[in-house]
Amino acid sequence: MSDEYFLDTPVVRGFIAGVRDAIAQAASASDACDRIRPGFAALLEDPEWLPDAYAQPNPESGMGGGIGQWLLFRAADRSLTLFALVVPPGSETPVHDHLAWGLVGLYRGAQDEEIFDTALTLSERRALAPGDFYALLPPRDDIHRVRTTSPETSVSIHLLTNDTGCVWRHTFDPEAKTSAPFRSGYVNVACEED
Ligand SMILES: [Fe+2]
Repeated sequence: MSDEYFLDTPVVRGFIAGVRDAIAQAASASDACDRIRPGFAALLEDPEWLPDAYAQPNPESGMGGGIGQWLLFRAADRSLTLFALVVPPGSETPVHDHLAWGLVGLYRGAQDEEIFDTALTLSERRALAPGDFYALLPPRDDIHRVRTTSPETSVSIHLLTNDTGCVWRHTFDPEAKTSAPFRSGYVNVACEED
């Protein structure tokens, strides 16, 4: 298995190289996130690097609502992925977790995000504008739901330290306090069968 650049450009390669340097030098996940922040902010500010082909909804979505999850980079050992999450206007994700630390930021459009604690109680609601991002350090901020509030499709960029689209994670029903196994998949890359 080797590194896979589904979007193979100097911008993506440069960003991933910076991320790997940061992780190698960091004393903790939180420290790594702090080191990655400037590069991640620059990626969100650059309007040019993400081709429209990777910002399209997916009618066959495993998440419903036409939501598309486009894999841009995956490390050979599956310990790091970069992907774009595309959410059409009015669509929302199920409440879900990620099971890995990383950075999540809004690239286009507007989103409302609801964050739940591990007891599935709503702990925070926040409105995101392009350029806004946060470090996801499970269990903090790991369970959430996002909804597009703009008339245009929203696109968020995720850098996470697992193969988020192919690992089995969870969706949740906060009212019933139940969870279910969930694998979101990617639009452009098939997951291996279990
Ligand atoms: Fe998410």
